[in-house]
Amino acid sequence: QLIQRADYTAPAFWIDTVDLTFDLDPAKTRVLNQMRVRRNPDVAAQPLRLDGDELNLARVLVNGQGTSFKMDGSQLVLENLPEGHEAFDLEIFTTCNPAKNTKLMGLYVSNDSFFTQCEAEGFRRITYFLDRPDVMSNYSVTLRADKKAFPVLLSNGNLVDEGTLEDGRHFARWVDPHKKPCYLFALVAGQFVCREQRVKAPSGKEHLLQVFVRSGDLDKTEHAMNSLMASIKWDEQRFNLSLDLERFMIVATSDFNMGAMENKGLNIFNTKFVLANSATATDMDYANIESVVGHEYFHNWTGNRVTCRDWFQLSLKEGLTVFRDQEFSQDLAAEALKDNPTAAASAKAVKRIEDVRLLRTAQFPEDAGPMAHPVRPDSYVEINNFYTVTIYEKGSEVVRMMQTLAATPASNISGREGFAKGMSLYFERHDGQAVTCDDFAQAIADANPGSALATHLTQFKRWYAQAGTPRVQASGSYNADTRTYTLSMSQSCPPSPGQDHKEPFVIPVQFGLLGADGREVLSTQLLVLTEATQSFEFKDLSLQAGEEPVPSILRGFSAPVVLEKDFTATQLLTLLAHDTDPFNQWEAAQRLCLNAALTAVAASDAPTHVLDAALVQALRTVLRNPALDAAFKDLVLTLPSETYIAEQLEVVDPQRIHAVRESMRAQLARELHDDWAWAFEAHSENGAFSPDPVSSGRRALSGMALTMLCLDARTTGDEVWPGRTYQCFKDAHNMTDRFNALSALVGSGLELAGDALQRFYNLFHNEALVMDKWFALQAGSTDRGGNILSLVRNLMLHPDFHIKNPNRARSLIFSFCSANPGAFHRSDAAGYVFWSERVLELDAINPQVAARLARALDRWSKLAEPYRTAAHEAIKRIAAKTDLSNDVREVVSRALSN
Ligand code: ARG
Ligand code: ZN
Repeated sequence: QLIQRADYTAPAFWIDTVDLTFDLDPAKTRVLNQMRVRRNPDVAAQPLRLDGDELNLARVLVNGQGTSFKMDGSQLVLENLPEGHEAFDLEIFTTCNPAKNTKLMGLYVSNDSFFTQCEAEGFRRITYFLDRPDVMSNYSVTLRADKKAFPVLLSNGNLVDEGTLEDGRHFARWVDPHKKPCYLFALVAGQFVCREQRVKAPSGKEHLLQVFVRSGDLDKTEHAMNSLMASIKWDEQRFNLSLDLERFMIVATSDFNMGAMENKGLNIFNTKFVLANSATATDMDYANIESVVGHEYFHNWTGNRVTCRDWFQLSLKEGLTVFRDQEFSQDLAAEALKDNPTAAASAKAVKRIEDVRLLRTAQFPEDAGPMAHPVRPDSYVEINNFYTVTIYEKGSEVVRMMQTLAATPASNISGREGFAKGMSLYFERHDGQAVTCDDFAQAIADANPGSALATHLTQFKRWYAQAGTPRVQASGSYNADTRTYTLSMSQSCPPSPGQDHKEPFVIPVQFGLLGADGREVLSTQLLVLTEATQSFEFKDLSLQAGEEPVPSILRGFSAPVVLEKDFTATQLLTLLAHDTDPFNQWEAAQRLCLNAALTAVAASDAPTHVLDAALVQALRTVLRNPALDAAFKDLVLTLPSETYIAEQLEVVDPQRIHAVRESMRAQLARELHDDWAWAFEAHSENGAFSPDPVSSGRRALSGMALTMLCLDARTTGDEVWPGRTYQCFKDAHNMTDRFNALSALVGSGLELAGDALQRFYNLFHNEALVMDKWFALQAGSTDRGGNILSLVRNLMLHPDFHIKNPNRARSLIFSFCSANPGAFHRSDAAGYVFWSERVLELDAINPQVAARLARALDRWSKLAEPYRTAAHEAIKRIAAKTDLSNDVREVVSRALSN
């Protein structure tokens, strides 16, 4: 059953208030739902159809009286409701079984505690309701449970009452002062400890911040609390948005389908994005926690105060909130380095490069595959399948372009200022409403009438409507007589499912020119490409006779497009060495490496010396450059991923790509051996741990150096560096250094690896999140003898492997199927067989997780033989199952209709 955006109609009823009473019991929880309901005067009179899912219905009362009702599928239909527009009382009593809820949607039990997840359509698994985001209500909630087993009882808003009951039970009553859609409802009950912090808002109002975790984890909550405080401050400073609740709570659970959830005043998080101390969490964990805590907090305004009219508008809140969390992390990194503007700019660029890397390795393939959809989709079968990198990451890029285009140069208003004005207007107009992506874009444009965004708004909104990654072809010509550079650009966008023809996009292109010696000849200009083909001229450039300028196009990755330009190697080397835009500096190195990789993939001989001497020397210069910081060097020296290389090809031989990239890594390990040794010595340190951008960059680079030195030792037989690496692993003062050393040993397949893995297990087998790393490292490691699959099959039998736990399933199964192409794509098809078995096994437990895994072969039709046929067979085997969930069914049928 396909749901279409065009079919939207307003709800026939409003639910003004909801009073919920829960008698919490793992096997049978009783839910009393008392609502004030009235007809929507704008919609023709009709029966009330309430959504439900896996509920046992015991009673329905209207104004206190029994009433007739019928079931239509899973919907409860009430036909004999009072006429007229007066509100009436509707009371529904149901029970459900949280202990058996392995889908982790609705009310479920994890580690003997109760949690909820209602977005997108989980509230219907708790009670019958109008489960749609445009129905907003005032909630009050009474929780009753055994006091010993469930001492902490939480829900949205403010705690207004609590006390004891008979039989060892107790209760708590919560009232949320803000209207909300039901997907933001939450409750938590169980045994928790909490870190508390009181903060004063600029207004003088006091807020209580709490982070709830299981006892034993309290020493891992400091970073989450710091991140929350930083988020509150940032939203006040940058957007003038403050916390609107007396109390703001975060609760961690180890069983969670996604990252975290922005329930009003009661955010529920995957433990992975809360818990960190230096012994158990890596720098990447620290960074992820900061951005996810920020993300969920920022939803309080972008998502909760102003929410989505329908789920097709999901990117209204997700794209915007990802943009906000990306900006938050950038600003925070820069803030930490405010005494050193160059370092601050570099730290911001590092964050930008990481975000772009994710976009290009995950979203670009999605946009080119069978699941491609616009940022505002037109239809879906299962909304859970549309929590995608397109909605989130491409959605964020669309908001970022709006910020860029919101500048009014004539009045000296920057994009950043213009965008902030637009946000203010958005809240002025829509606070408390459920709105659309159009409403958002309109507010940003209306607040900036002189901006390019306002001028091109209608055309700009094609970014919401058209799927696919646009391609921009650029070519430059220089007229030495007039010292004029002409940049010609044309754009096109490949077809995507249901969209054969695309209209031109509005593409902001940040552009500059360098002289042959690397000096900046033209500082960054914003060019706005709106036509299929367009030229831009730059006159009177201060260039010497015989000197040609070098173009730096799409600085900062100013639009989510593929830039096609035939740069010469010399131009790219100039950009790598001198571009004032650090993003394009990095991009130049990526292009050089990518070009080398593509040439080697196309050749027929075994790949050796894929990188030419000039490129190796340029990379060495970056590595040794004292003016660049370590995090940036780490990014420049990281080769394009196998997935990104595959994206550039019409026909993909995953083993060939893997062999080429491995050969490139081995070459860098060999030819830069002494430089890696230097880098390791120069960047390892033993001081107190701090996750700040400078320290984490140093750890990243020293870790990369160890990886390269161990890789090289494998070929040379050197025993010194493996020994030192093992020592580092044993003596490490923090998880980042320890895990980097372990990966270096495992990644190079050195004998010491087995011993190190066992030691690591002994140290951390009681730390679930560290065990996830242990499983993931093994499942994701380089497949030298074709034995990773059997290792993965063995690890599935390990006593610490639990397929029902999403984090653990992801750490083992996804790490193999989605993150280890060299091991997964086997000519004997055994990787695909394993994949199809796991999709089916998971589908019976948790369809959302299964559907994610089902996407591992999205790009099957591009594979070379024998992979293509084998992958096709595996997908067909899944599709042949009769009782698939909607989630998996939608993914595999789209893959097959490709
Ligand atoms: N709104 C959450 C976030 O991005 C994601 C929740 C998605 N949950 C789901 N079941 N699809 O912060
Ligand atoms: Zn979100």
